[in-house]
Amino acid sequence: MKIPIHFILNGEEVSVEVEPNELLLNLLREKLGLTGPKYVCGIGECGACTVLLDGEPVLSCLTLAVDVDGHEVTTIEGLAKDNELTAVQKAFIEEAAVQCGYCTPGFIIMIDKLLKENPNPTEEEIREYIRGNLCRCTGYVNIVKAALKAAEELRKNTSLIKIKK
Ligand code: FES
Ligand code: FES
Repeated sequence: MKIPIHFILNGEEVSVEVEPNELLLNLLREKLGLTGPKYVCGIGECGACTVLLDGEPVLSCLTLAVDVDGHEVTTIEGLAKDNELTAVQKAFIEEAAVQCGYCTPGFIIMIDKLLKENPNPTEEEIREYIRGNLCRCTGYVNIVKAALKAAEELRKNTSLIKIKK
């Protein structure tokens, strides 16, 4: 039995039919072609499948597609605006915080969210916030450096906006 759902995906309305037990991760990757959220563990252990549901991070491998009906989903593909990478995305490139890249979308979603909640996090606060995200390649050092760099960049931009006003 297929169930029709309607939701906002990266700012666009989407209407699709899903199975009652279909996972959001599979809907995004296989039906909607968004391969940013990664299928790694499939059991809620690694964070590679993280997306935002109404602005809050969720594991799309543990979320039923039917549960996003009427809600708003943002994937890594929806973060950059007007072909401009976000401060976190740029910092990941500049700090070489990416190796195989499988964990990267989940980390970027989480750090982006952290910096909205806390524009000036300590290294410890960053590590605590991303404790549910696993990376097997980088050793986390460059990921934390990227988060600190993005935070600094965003704070600079915010104070420039205030000065201009
Ligand atoms: S794939 Fe979802 S937490 Fe690992
Ligand atoms: S860059 Fe390979 S798992 Fe993190």
